Amino acid sequence: MRVAPPPGHPPVPGHPPVSRSEPELDLETVRAAAKEFLELFHGEDPHAGPLEPRLTEVLREIDTTGTYWHTPEELAFGARVAWRNNKRCIGRLYWHSLQVRDLRTVSDAGGVAAHCFEHLRTAHNGGRIRPMISVFAPETPSRPAPRIWNEQLIRYAGYEQPDGRALGDPRYRAFTTKLIQRGWQPPERRSAFDVLPLVVETVEEGPRMFQLPGQAVHEVPLEHPELTWFADLELRWHAVPVISNNRLVIGGVSYPAAPFNGWYMGTEIGARNLADSDRYDMVPEVAARMGLDTSNEATLWRDQALVEINRAVLHSFHTNGVTVTDHHTESRRFLIHLEKEARAGRGCPADWSWIVPPMSGSQTPVFHRYYDSDNQVPNFVNDPEAACRALRGGPPAFP
Ligand code: ARG
Repeated sequence: MRVAPPPGHPPVPGHPPVSRSEPELDLETVRAAAKEFLELFHGEDPHAGPLEPRLTEVLREIDTTGTYWHTPEELAFGARVAWRNNKRCIGRLYWHSLQVRDLRTVSDAGGVAAHCFEHLRTAHNGGRIRPMISVFAPETPSRPAPRIWNEQLIRYAGYEQPDGRALGDPRYRAFTTKLIQRGWQPPERRSAFDVLPLVVETVEEGPRMFQLPGQAVHEVPLEHPELTWFADLELRWHAVPVISNNRLVIGGVSYPAAPFNGWYMGTEIGARNLADSDRYDMVPEVAARMGLDTSNEATLWRDQALVEINRAVLHSFHTNGVTVTDHHTESRRFLIHLEKEARAGRGCPADWSWIVPPMSGSQTPVFHRYYDSDNQVPNFVNDPEAACRALRGGPPAFP
């Protein structure tokens, strides 16, 4: 089945060309990438039909428009394989189950934001989190695609305090300051877990901010199975991690707005977001409340506190009925994934430094081996400009 291209595709006269800051592809590169992708799709999917007629059609479309429109099946396959090829992800065993929302006809800021909020609701699924991607309008030679500035759909503000420290997530200090300058009004009573607005930029509208509706934001308040005082810390975290500033690249076509999620592995929250000294930095406080001897590193008070924070994360997600996984289970699953990929005759690119969990690495089987690390396509790309917008709140893609 083909979906009709949106109005305005191909070329809309009068639109400025695709921004120079992000890669512009020459036709030869697009043709080669399209061919490589279609060969992969038709080689892997028995329902894809014959390669030749489709390839001829695509090459002709590239000659006249500079790009081409994926079939829904190509899009779904491409998005799933982009996940499969993502070297940093330990959770790839389920790559085939990714639900793909085809939103390529959506290109206005309000539409992108509304569908992102709907993505959050349906991906949360009452706690049984579904891996999902929403693919918005692609980059074309005649009209640049929309961009989402935020690193994830849900991120917590980091407010500059008079004492030089931050209230909230220090990772988003500069981003938060920029959004306040742009007119975002934080809640009257600021807290350490205020959800930032979503910033969607289009070439016509420039950057626009959208407050997330309450129903889109599911959070888990953290408590510990034994340490009753843990709840008094009033820590919480959002249930669904939806990465929103990566560019999805399939067969020479770029989708800069293509937010995607899986579910959390507990250590991402417990051993990084809440524990890193440049994030919520909770280890010293938890250690103090536990009464540990922090006068000497050799007591391993950091390690002890870290374990309890991570137990609290896993326990709280479980008791709230929200999908989460622990690093031991997920490491074993990743090895099963590697075996399955090998049996399918494929290599599985992986980055050791990202795959090995941030605590108890050597207790997990993923630690004790090496991986192929060659980049493969389709994939998700984190452009430096997009990374900068997500952390510093600019500069805009379309100045
Ligand atoms: N590490 C990121 C975070 O803590 C999320 C990255 C994606 N994680 C995932 N389980 N899909 O928010």
